Amino acid sequence: MKIVITLATLSAMSLRGASAACGDVKTIASITGDPSSCNYANFLAALGTTGECTEDEIFALLGVSEDAGEREEYVDELCAYDAPVQFVEIQGTYQLDRRYFAGGGPLVDGGDDWATRSWKIQNFHNNMGDSTIISWPEYLARIDYNAGVDGNGNPLNPEGQSDNGYPANMNLDVSCALQTAMCCFVDDSNGPSPDDFASVMTTDVCRHDLANSRQSNHINHGWSVFPGAEKPVHCTGFTWEDETIDLIGNLMYDASLSLTATKGYLKAIPGAPMCGCVEHMPVVEKAACRKAKVADGTDVTFTFNYADGDLSAENEASIVYEDCDGDLKAEYQAVHADNADAIDAHLVGDGGCEADIVDYLNEEQFLHVGVSPTRYLDVNATGGSWSDLLVGEGTRFMPPDLDIVKSDAEFRAMFAACLPTKQRFCMLRRVCDSCTTPSHRDIYYQRIGTTVDDLPKGYGGAVDEEGDPIFDVDNGETNLQELFTDMWMSAENILGVNFNLYSSYADALSGDGAWTWCNYDHKGIGFPRDCGPTGPVHNNWNSYKKFGHGYANYHGYYIELP
Ligand SMILES: *[C@@H]1O[C@H](CO)[C@@H](O)[C@H](O)[C@H]1NC(C)=O
Repeated sequence: MKIVITLATLSAMSLRGASAACGDVKTIASITGDPSSCNYANFLAALGTTGECTEDEIFALLGVSEDAGEREEYVDELCAYDAPVQFVEIQGTYQLDRRYFAGGGPLVDGGDDWATRSWKIQNFHNNMGDSTIISWPEYLARIDYNAGVDGNGNPLNPEGQSDNGYPANMNLDVSCALQTAMCCFVDDSNGPSPDDFASVMTTDVCRHDLANSRQSNHINHGWSVFPGAEKPVHCTGFTWEDETIDLIGNLMYDASLSLTATKGYLKAIPGAPMCGCVEHMPVVEKAACRKAKVADGTDVTFTFNYADGDLSAENEASIVYEDCDGDLKAEYQAVHADNADAIDAHLVGDGGCEADIVDYLNEEQFLHVGVSPTRYLDVNATGGSWSDLLVGEGTRFMPPDLDIVKSDAEFRAMFAACLPTKQRFCMLRRVCDSCTTPSHRDIYYQRIGTTVDDLPKGYGGAVDEEGDPIFDVDNGETNLQELFTDMWMSAENILGVNFNLYSSYADALSGDGAWTWCNYDHKGIGFPRDCGPTGPVHNNWNSYKKFGHGYANYHGYYIELP
């Protein structure tokens, strides 16, 4: 190796009265400890131990200023990106990793025979798989992409939204909240034993929401369901508390390329990534579970080598991979005891697919496969006695009456019909099958007051150029039908003063659980704008003129019968 000592380095060395050896090609520091011991403080201590370079000497050679913060950052970067084996080094390029994790690429479906396709990962497996710390996949090529915004300031990559280099479906910063990752394979035919899945845990696959991995399947919205039994699928995963101590890069290697190298496992569940944080993976019944640790009684050694104005770092470790005590769900529940239920939506347990698929299609995709407890309500079967549909959209379609003076008068009469018998207005109820927020699937509007004068001001006689009647909105005149369909106004219509909202008929009768938050007065936006039980709830309003802009496109209004 050639040593280049520039004039600048020489003068820096002489200014600082350097030891003769600093600047030679050699190891200047060596840290031993647990996987988190590669850090600035330990680096400084290790410099002192070898005595090859002082702190000032080495940073002068590296062109790093005297600022302690900059020096620490320099060492932190070495520890994060240089000391561990980068995941990308196993296959060699970002593109190969990207396609592999998505379930494709030359390794998965290339034309060469298996030995040719796989020699590189076999080689890594045999030489380094258990003797080094591997970093979680991260790529320079992704940093701009993850942070990018379009011309309107919206993120190019909704799952990204931060300037890191994590790949699709594995972004630790923004979409890996459960700290659990999983790989699922459907093909075991390349391994040394022809039917390897027979000897490992296999699972039924329930379904995959395609929007959860749109960056790898290139589909914005959609779903796949896998009812009944398919061929066996092997899913394996891991969960962690501490990214560094728990060796999550090694675990990702163990769950992906290592299994491919040793057992020939390949190919993803259709529409899903082959590997990703569990939030991005298909819902399955169960998955195998793996752990990794530094072998008991051993330490990791981080070595810092200087050469040619550059400092590099490497590590040596004895890594043990092993099965967890139970499956991935059990391990998750043990490691994340404070949030143990969160895994249930992803690993539904033996025989859990059938119910999961029915729930999913009803709750998320709005199909009448089973009967959702909060959609397609029969108004007369859920408390109170209700009119026929007054006005509605979608599956509860009933167009608004275009004679606005007449329809307003009808609404007033219907509201007032309860006054003689109940000493209150009749309630108006909106049932919304397509609303995304459960609180907005059934809402009760109870007007406050005891006489018709407690309703908002009515039609005042104004007409437009064509002589058709118009409500003078600026004067507070309210078309009671339009108040709900398209123009949710605050004129004599203030929550807690003129009306209350409730989530059930029983609440509305007792006065319990009244909603506490409302806004109004956005032209073209109808009931209930962003009103919510305890705070704003967006996009669950209806609008007959801006049809399609909110989530309430399937809803209907009913009024209480006296
Ligand atoms: C609810 O029941 C009442 C009274 O029996 C009936 O008049 C009304 O049509 C029913 N409403 C619906 C939507 O079926």
